[in-house]
Amino acid sequence: MSRPPMARLDRLLANLGYGSRREVAALARAGRIVLNGRPLTESGAKVPVTADLPLQMTINGVPVDPPAPLTLIMNKPLGVVCSHKEPGRSVYDLLPHRWRARMPGLSTVGRLDKDTSGLLLITDDGPFLHRVISPRSHVPKRYRAELARPLNGREGELFASGTLVLEGENDPLAPADLIVTGPQSADLIITEGRYHQVRRMFAAVGNHVVLLHREQIGGLTLPEDLEPGAWHLLPAEDQAAIFS
Ligand code: URA
Repeated sequence: MSRPPMARLDRLLANLGYGSRREVAALARAGRIVLNGRPLTESGAKVPVTADLPLQMTINGVPVDPPAPLTLIMNKPLGVVCSHKEPGRSVYDLLPHRWRARMPGLSTVGRLDKDTSGLLLITDDGPFLHRVISPRSHVPKRYRAELARPLNGREGELFASGTLVLEGENDPLAPADLIVTGPQSADLIITEGRYHQVRRMFAAVGNHVVLLHREQIGGLTLPEDLEPGAWHLLPAEDQAAIFS
């Protein structure tokens, strides 16, 4: 069995957002950091960095946050943005405050508009992020759309044709699947992630999306019991399901 990577305690905890290295050293000296039942008072001590660290280490009696790589699944609520830069409340405001200081930092895997809800992945794992969003991966994303006007019955053929060019673009969209679920509602499965893609596809056929919710990324479905704004860590098997 290969040995786990080791890190200095102060560096590890500073990178998890617990404060500067000096602040972490003070916590250690005060006996607040406990590894497998024993206080770790030396901030320069080397500790194994494994996914189960929260089962081994506590800080002020509370399990330490999971180390990188970390991926979580959120049911993004309406009205919050996915970017640090846009004004307004962001999905990062729904996470523990300390996580803003994590290194490597967390990013959303692609973006959902402020007015779109549903399955959002957030990760500090760059290769995983790129694998999900790369057009070469062809990971399908399923959206549930409520529309302002009745469907005319011809949208499915056009979306599946691979010939639809969105306004302001030159390259046609890859074929997409439309599953009609009602006179003014449909699920749309796309494999690309162009700007406002679903809304613009319906706009291209003279309709307007009034509600948009992402239900699925690859083989991963948003759990029904995950309330808007709630999130949890994504287990490795669910991460693998995305590509299945
Ligand atoms: N397409 C959109 O129009 N908006 C989203 O948030 C995602 C896909």
